[in-house]
Amino acid sequence: MAGIQAGDGEPHWSSKTAFVLAAIGSAVGLGNLWRFPYVAGENGGFAFVLVYLICVLLIGLPILSAELLMGRRGGGSAISAITRLAKTEGKTGAWAIFAWVGMLTSFLIVTFYSVIAGWVLYFAIEAFKDVISNVGANGVAGFSAPLFATMTNEEVTGRLGGLLEQPKTMIIFHALFIGLTMLICARGVKGGIEKAATTLMPAFFVLLLVLVGFSVTQGAGVDAAKYLFAPDVDKFVNALTSGTLVLDALGQAFFSIGLGSALMVTYGLYMRKSTNIPGVSGIVVSADTGVALIAGMAIFPIVFQFGLEPGAGPGLMFSTLPLAFHQIPFGGIFGFMFFAMALFAALTSSISLLEVAVAWADGDKDTPNKARRRVIGTIILGTICFIIGVGNALSQVPADSAGGNFFSTWKPAEIMPLFEGKTLLDFLDSLTGTILLPFGGLMAALFAGWVMSKSATREELGFKSESSYNAWYFLIRWVCPIAVTLVLIFGAVIAPAVAKNKAAAEAEQVDSSIEQVAN
Ligand code: TRP
Repeated sequence: MAGIQAGDGEPHWSSKTAFVLAAIGSAVGLGNLWRFPYVAGENGGFAFVLVYLICVLLIGLPILSAELLMGRRGGGSAISAITRLAKTEGKTGAWAIFAWVGMLTSFLIVTFYSVIAGWVLYFAIEAFKDVISNVGANGVAGFSAPLFATMTNEEVTGRLGGLLEQPKTMIIFHALFIGLTMLICARGVKGGIEKAATTLMPAFFVLLLVLVGFSVTQGAGVDAAKYLFAPDVDKFVNALTSGTLVLDALGQAFFSIGLGSALMVTYGLYMRKSTNIPGVSGIVVSADTGVALIAGMAIFPIVFQFGLEPGAGPGLMFSTLPLAFHQIPFGGIFGFMFFAMALFAALTSSISLLEVAVAWADGDKDTPNKARRRVIGTIILGTICFIIGVGNALSQVPADSAGGNFFSTWKPAEIMPLFEGKTLLDFLDSLTGTILLPFGGLMAALFAGWVMSKSATREELGFKSESSYNAWYFLIRWVCPIAVTLVLIFGAVIAPAVAKNKAAAEAEQVDSSIEQVAN
């Protein structure tokens, strides 16, 4: 039915560019700068990059178009959009459950995203103070100083550890970051989100390019390029047969584009009828993937130059990179630029994450006082988010340090092998990344492919040729649901159980050999 006028009474993005920048702002974040390089590192570099690209193209891209079209056609909030669309097709409004789950998912993600982003803010400020004090001491020549020039290497790599032992500081920076996010969200789509994205994203791209130039000329650019782009058959076979590569690649694709959380349904709400959905989906996905690859080319040359560990995980951004900036002329200013850039990227992502729930709180299309409801909704939701986030921050404090606390050792879901040994922050990260986002993506694919009528999706997508539409339809109806279901079952259930059994068997072997020795 063509009767639904999407977004009646809703604010709209002021232009296609504004929408594209906001969507790119949401997609590009800590997932690209920090997660992509290290997950790629753990999975053999090139092999991961290749499978990731396939996942993005065959699963990420069609689901992104599906979420956007559902939002624009339904209007209101993600939840009312899905309810309305389901009813239009004569189906139960219970489908809206997946929008509820999506909203919960994005909400849970902000609670820990803002803690990590708080670390970024802390590092950005520390680096800034460092530059200022160098310039204060040495005049203009101070600009050429390395980052934290007066410290030892150990002190530099230990900065994250030091921060983790100061729960109060961590919570203050978490509060600052969530406060910034709320400030922007409360101002609404045009005055807040759009403005933030259109100023921060161009700045982000400029900083990124400067950093790549710096990194490639100062560091081991060739090694980095080989690592990410040169086919290595042995590594490829190894990575594929280890079983985790495809799961990691798909999960990373969902997290990085921001799929499966009703977020893109929400951003679709504000999209104009004239915007071509497949076109903008292509732009957003290319930009997101491009930034991940470019971020790799900004980070790995330095990692290789200094013989650092490419698969260092969460520490890569906060320990090894500062060490690299510590050893390079102009490292102070470049280190500051790096963290400022990461901060911009994280901020435009966290706005989008909070927006899903705020869009629900400000009511359906013709609710009166939407602006006031938005402000109140932002305050309430942001505050809850801050409180849960305090638990997340405390869970990162080592148990044996002075700040050790209940959350340092609390493992919320030990019974499931998948969550074994995970404290609150790691648990939420894993719960959202490996279960909730793929589940949301699966539901979005099922909804667009099986619940909505072909005529509705065809009209909303506006493909230029029927064969392009058919390709999308086949992917969304068959390829996405089947692939995501398989990944969910293997990733969340089978792989962790197998790993647990294997560990148990190994432990038994150790036990019995100890017994043998004792006998
Ligand atoms: N895509 C962002 C990143 O790469 C994070 C993010 C923003 C996200 N919105 C999301 C992840 C919605 C999942 C769902 O950092």
